[in-house]
Amino acid sequence: MAKLIMLSLCFLAIFSSANAAISVVNLGAKSDGQTDSTSAFLKAWTTVCNSAHPATMYVPKGTFLVKTAVFSGPCKSKVSVLIAGTIVAPSNYQIIGQTGFWILFIKINGLSIHGGTIDAKGAGFWACRTTGSNCPSGSRSFTIMASSNVLLSGLTSINSQLIHVEINGCTNVMVRNIKVSALTQSLNTDGIHVEQSTGVTIINCAIKTGDDCISIGPGTRNLWIQRIACGPGHGISIGSLGNKATEDGVQNVTVTSAVFTETMNGVRIKSWAKQSTGFARDIIFRNIVMKNVSNPIVIDQTYCPSGNNCPTKSYGVKISPVTYLNIKGTSSQQIAVNFDCSSTNPCSGIRMKNIDITYHNGATTSSCSNAGGTSSGVMIPASCL
Ligand SMILES: *[C@@H]1O[C@H](CO)[C@@H](O)[C@H](O)[C@H]1NC(C)=O
Ligand SMILES: *[C@@H]1O[C@H](CO)[C@@H](O)[C@H](O)[C@H]1NC(C)=O
Repeated sequence: MAKLIMLSLCFLAIFSSANAAISVVNLGAKSDGQTDSTSAFLKAWTTVCNSAHPATMYVPKGTFLVKTAVFSGPCKSKVSVLIAGTIVAPSNYQIIGQTGFWILFIKINGLSIHGGTIDAKGAGFWACRTTGSNCPSGSRSFTIMASSNVLLSGLTSINSQLIHVEINGCTNVMVRNIKVSALTQSLNTDGIHVEQSTGVTIINCAIKTGDDCISIGPGTRNLWIQRIACGPGHGISIGSLGNKATEDGVQNVTVTSAVFTETMNGVRIKSWAKQSTGFARDIIFRNIVMKNVSNPIVIDQTYCPSGNNCPTKSYGVKISPVTYLNIKGTSSQQIAVNFDCSSTNPCSGIRMKNIDITYHNGATTSSCSNAGGTSSGVMIPASCL
């Protein structure tokens, strides 16, 4: 009897979940990579979002062409998106390049997205930006905005025009097993960008790109980053901060178990030399391996990437405290630790312990300006705090 009940419960569960899965193909999407499937995707979304019970939007195997698409809530219940196939943007970069985003999920409480490959076909856009005439402003590939209780798992993003994956204005987000890949020469193709969000966890991601592997913008709180393979790329960066006079700070960020391979930077905090209410507080970088990284440990408070009309006032956001613990490996330059802090707002509470970074099997050096704190344990390079 009990067995029978179990069996029928099980059957019911399968039946109802199958019932609630809406395949984009049933609504007219074509897996040929050519037919515009945008409206089929949006129809499927509307159905799952309006379902009174948890429902799943399903993207089967195959290649689906999708233009700019907004999947917006609020939804009536929890929603899932299961992607077995590949979603591609049109090869004409103008088509998705005008709006700032390509695939956007917005205002959803209780969203889980699994699997899939998305290819924004950004190469034409990158080429336009380097040769430089009449290029659109470009788009992020995959954005989750103003949402809470989100799981994003197993997504692969390739060839984004700009940022691959952005979490903005969200609470309680788990991002795991994400792969990102773009060419080293592709400008501003950050792997994962977090901004104005609280309680984001990023675990087990492999990121190869032309800009920061992970970038952390203003208003980020309680961010946990673990087991990241970064490179090529520009490292994991907090910032740039302090670009606006009134700006939210970054607080309580932990980066642990990361490997940087041949990256431009390892762990970096960057801010403009402007007056700002922004700050970076309670930051921990620990258990990190550097493999031939150009600037393994950096604080740069005169960030100004264009090199033109750079702010000359040396204000900069307040940075304190920051911990660097168990960081080892190799640097491709002799200076392995570079703290270039603001003279009017010096960095304080920097704690370094067990740092062992070599250069051509020899010693590295460190450089400090306006940086205060303590060091202990192994210190290669010798501390300049
Ligand atoms: C800091 O963030 C972590 C998650 O990364 C969280 O578990 C912890 O409670 C936060 N600490 C404070 C004081 O908010
Ligand atoms: C380290 O990287 C530099 C470029 O930054 C490269 O020229 C050099 O060959 C690399 N060294 C090793 C040992 O891989």
